Amino acid sequence: MSSTTTETPRHLLEELEPVVATNLDRHLAIAQEWHPHDYVPWSRGRDFAFLGGEDYEPGQSELSETAKAAMFTNLLTEDNLPSYHREIATRFGRDGAWGTWVGRWTAEEGRHGVALRDYLVVTRGVDPVELERARMDHMTTGYDSGDKTALEAVAYVSFQELATRVSHRNTGKAAGDPVADTLLARIAKDENLHMVFYRNIVAAALELAPDETMRAIADEVIGFEMPGATMARFRRNSMIIAKAGIYDLRLHHDEVIMPVLRHWDVFGRTGLGPVGEQARQELGAFLEALDAQATAFVDRRAEQRSRHASRSDEPQVIVS
Ligand SMILES: [Fe+2]
Ligand SMILES: [Fe+2]
Repeated sequence: MSSTTTETPRHLLEELEPVVATNLDRHLAIAQEWHPHDYVPWSRGRDFAFLGGEDYEPGQSELSETAKAAMFTNLLTEDNLPSYHREIATRFGRDGAWGTWVGRWTAEEGRHGVALRDYLVVTRGVDPVELERARMDHMTTGYDSGDKTALEAVAYVSFQELATRVSHRNTGKAAGDPVADTLLARIAKDENLHMVFYRNIVAAALELAPDETMRAIADEVIGFEMPGATMARFRRNSMIIAKAGIYDLRLHHDEVIMPVLRHWDVFGRTGLGPVGEQARQELGAFLEALDAQATAFVDRRAEQRSRHASRSDEPQVIVS
């Protein structure tokens, strides 16, 4: 087997296998069964024109533009599951506890897209034709994380699962429909357990290979990108989502990156060699810049909101 610096040594994956097995058991013991159909308000549904009913038109949606943007983005992100499966299956393999986890994780993730799509189509929350066309394009393009090693992949998903949890949770709160809120809270619970699983694997890797793992963590935080970046209207929808405080740089820093880094005691741990120390320094510098950027974003948003509020106050003042 050729050996380059971008490959996770086989022995590390093998040494992590018992940790994967323990965490798989733990996951299976605490994950609760749930059924997507329970969370969909079927009584609000009716046929479309193809079966003699009425096709979608925008006035039928009860969702705000913000909720539409967030649910559309969340669903398309979930839709790309076949690509994510390929990403982790090629890195973690199909054997033993790693392989069992890959299958179980994929099955759990499959529920998320099913439930969200059923909700949106039954309630006519978004245009189902636009949604289907976007899904076709997005899945045809697929997701490719590049040449990440298994170690980098497991560091990446520790953050990504938590990012998805925060995003689903806040989308639910912003949806303006208790049914959507309940569904998204249920999905967010799954994402949290996924994060815990991956976070525990990285914690063990930090003990087994501290320098390589610290390098992988630093690289994944510094280069972090949500997996939906190639979907239709991603930039526009990300702006709407950030403006609404569903997912923004402040949340990314405070509720996603920092809690996971703290759990690993990234800045307190000893025993790093020069490679790990270098990575940690780069990570520290990056986080300082991210924090400053987050503050600047929140300040700008507050200014825009107050300008907008005073503008929309004006006509009321005139009328009264
Ligand atoms: Fe998911
Ligand atoms: Fe997940």
